[in-house]
Amino acid sequence: MRNSTSRRIIETLLEKAAAKEPWRTEHSQIRSATYTDSGHLALEHQKLFQSMPQAIALSADLPANGSALTRECGGVDVLLTRNSDGEANAFLNVCRHRSSRVVTEERSCSSRLTCPYHAWSYDLNGSLVALPDNTSFPEVTVPQEGLRKLPIYEQQGVIWVTPSPSTTPVPGPDLGPFSEDFESFELSAYEHWRSHRFELEMNWKLVIDTFLEPYHFASLHRSTVGPFFISNLCHAQRHGSHIREVLPRKSLLDLSNVDPGLWDVVPHSAVVYVLFPATVLVMQIDHVETWRVIPHPTDPSKSVCDLDFYIPLDSGESSEVHWEKNWQITIDTVINEDFLAMTGVQRGLSSGAFSSVTAGANEPALSMFHDILKEQLMPLEKS
Ligand SMILES: [Fe+2]
Repeated sequence: MRNSTSRRIIETLLEKAAAKEPWRTEHSQIRSATYTDSGHLALEHQKLFQSMPQAIALSADLPANGSALTRECGGVDVLLTRNSDGEANAFLNVCRHRSSRVVTEERSCSSRLTCPYHAWSYDLNGSLVALPDNTSFPEVTVPQEGLRKLPIYEQQGVIWVTPSPSTTPVPGPDLGPFSEDFESFELSAYEHWRSHRFELEMNWKLVIDTFLEPYHFASLHRSTVGPFFISNLCHAQRHGSHIREVLPRKSLLDLSNVDPGLWDVVPHSAVVYVLFPATVLVMQIDHVETWRVIPHPTDPSKSVCDLDFYIPLDSGESSEVHWEKNWQITIDTVINEDFLAMTGVQRGLSSGAFSSVTAGANEPALSMFHDILKEQLMPLEKS
């Protein structure tokens, strides 16, 4: 991260750590129904997931010309390609013949995309270029427009897609000052290492909530990562609908003896970005994680989360043991502790015990996320 940004964050964190207190803002209430009400979920699908740009991949997921990647997004199947000029394209992954999925593998690389159903073929720009027995389809001449294009934005190593075909330009994501962070991370120097999908018995927002406060580190994570972090201390900032939360490691305390001109927050923290609405990108010391949450179509108590792990390019096979260890720590902490606890939270919220839950003044990023949701879902309430 840029030194000027790091300095501002580290100065605040060192000051709070010295005073042995959290960085406090306003406490707030979150309505339990936002996690349990199917009408609320329907509104979220409509206003957040079907119409806003979603961060569904990193540039590293399309590493070469000819790379293709499939994703679920906004209730539809999306196909991403990188064409021969190196540009990323997004399409509905739907064959124009009979609406079959054109690409079924998650990751592939080829100059041509051939639907497995009847072998209609498309190039990397989505044009239909060949079909067997063309004579039986006299109205179809090739090449011609084929796949339905989706709006796509590739910015500082992150790929955003709006999952609705549109003839009018849709505004792209605005990360404001966080763009400089991503520029400094040089995400193009990473490669995809491993993915896993988790089927969860919890509302999609609980997956994100669990990343948004370190108040639980000393209790829930006491046997895993808790001892490495400064408990109950974070730095949070929002720009528009997006959030950056810095969770400081104990090593950050040593920076008080280092020239501030050399400070970089990344080696001394986990930097969490909520790329609104539902992608959490965690910049770790030596790797990058993305947690992409997909809400259930109708059941507010279910969701799916895709974890992707990215490592520096050319880190070599000898470091496989290192990445396996990192992966295991991530699973032990987030899946076996956070997600397990959140499954209980979902049951508690659904029980009707309390009509709202509290985000403490020491949980600023959590309040920010729920403020943003309110603004996006009920814009009239603001005025
Ligand atoms: Fe946690």
